[in-house]
Amino acid sequence: MGQIRALAVAGSGGYVKPVMSERARIFSGMQPTGGLHVGNYSGALKGWVNLLDQGTYEALFCVVDAHAVTIEYDVKQMPSRILETAIAYIAAGLDPERCTIFIQSDVPEHMELAWYLGSVTPMGDLGRMTQFKEKSEQHQQNVNAGIFTYPILMAADVLLYKATVVPVGDDQVQHLELAREICRKFNARYGAVFPEPKPLLSSTPRILGIDGKSKMSKSRGNAIELDDEPRVVEKKLKSAFTDPLKVRLGDPGRPEICNIFTMHTAFTAPPALAEIDATCRSGALGCGECKMRLRDAIVRELTPFRQKSAELRKDPRRVLNVLQDGAERAHGIARSTLREVHHAMGLTSRSLG
Ligand code: AMP
Ligand code: TRP
Repeated sequence: MGQIRALAVAGSGGYVKPVMSERARIFSGMQPTGGLHVGNYSGALKGWVNLLDQGTYEALFCVVDAHAVTIEYDVKQMPSRILETAIAYIAAGLDPERCTIFIQSDVPEHMELAWYLGSVTPMGDLGRMTQFKEKSEQHQQNVNAGIFTYPILMAADVLLYKATVVPVGDDQVQHLELAREICRKFNARYGAVFPEPKPLLSSTPRILGIDGKSKMSKSRGNAIELDDEPRVVEKKLKSAFTDPLKVRLGDPGRPEICNIFTMHTAFTAPPALAEIDATCRSGALGCGECKMRLRDAIVRELTPFRQKSAELRKDPRRVLNVLQDGAERAHGIARSTLREVHHAMGLTSRSLG
């Protein structure tokens, strides 16, 4: 794990300069919403595992609990939601020996950096964020400053680790564009402290819900959850929206507008996928059969995930150790970056000496 630690060496200006590892860094995170769904999995988590397996990057994956407090939540349930998210990371294949997995609120520097970044973030840009507009619409009783400044904390998450690659689903691209803008503004005002981060999309960056109306999301009640039993997956798929022009067997379909086909892209291997594409178009493959093939593919891929999750649930100590170890490593990098930030901005007692 040595390469993931930012080594601190004495710099010339009375501050400590981090020595960055040679490998580019990736950072990503999910809110602890409890169980994850097929959208989170194929839009983000599965891609994270692939990137980690490539071995090209140094990687940090965070459970962004501080992001989850902007909407009202049940405090009693939060610890288990955090634990479940960490379990999902590990069960999906993020190997804690090869990456850093941690909880955002264990590293308070995220919040400190967000404050500094806030002073170079235009209010107008925050007001244009689609997610802000949606959330303030959904939670009209609680349109708080946190919902508004959420993208600043997200920029801080990424910049704190000088991550340059951020694998996310397409709903997060707008936030990352703003993070890039914040990065440029900070560097222009205080010197080149941060590299510009770029979003990286998976091949299925947007999975619709089974209602086919909006993106799959737990809060919309239209999700296939990773923990769903096979018969629940089947039931949900049976009711799922497909190409409205394909009504009965023999009707030609359009895979490019069908959410079932998009999910196949994430779960079905290329030769079988090509066959589904061709037979859907010709009309030989009906939606019922296509859905059952998807059920089989999802169940095949998620069965080991469910087994690993169940094992980890029996041994929460193990998960806790991973998170504590991860927080320690993340904290080392975060402290170095903040020392640089303080120096660049002329803050703290260190800049007096
Ligand atoms: P969240 O659960 O909102 O914290 O999202 C965690 C990650 O999953 C982010 O990278 C999202 O962009 C991604 N994601 C969430 N919902 C979907 C979806 N329906 N399709 C594709 N990606 C998604
Ligand atoms: N906002 C992201 C979401 O809701 C989660 C997130 C927070 C994130 N900080 C991040 C994702 C930093 C990537 C990088 O999905």
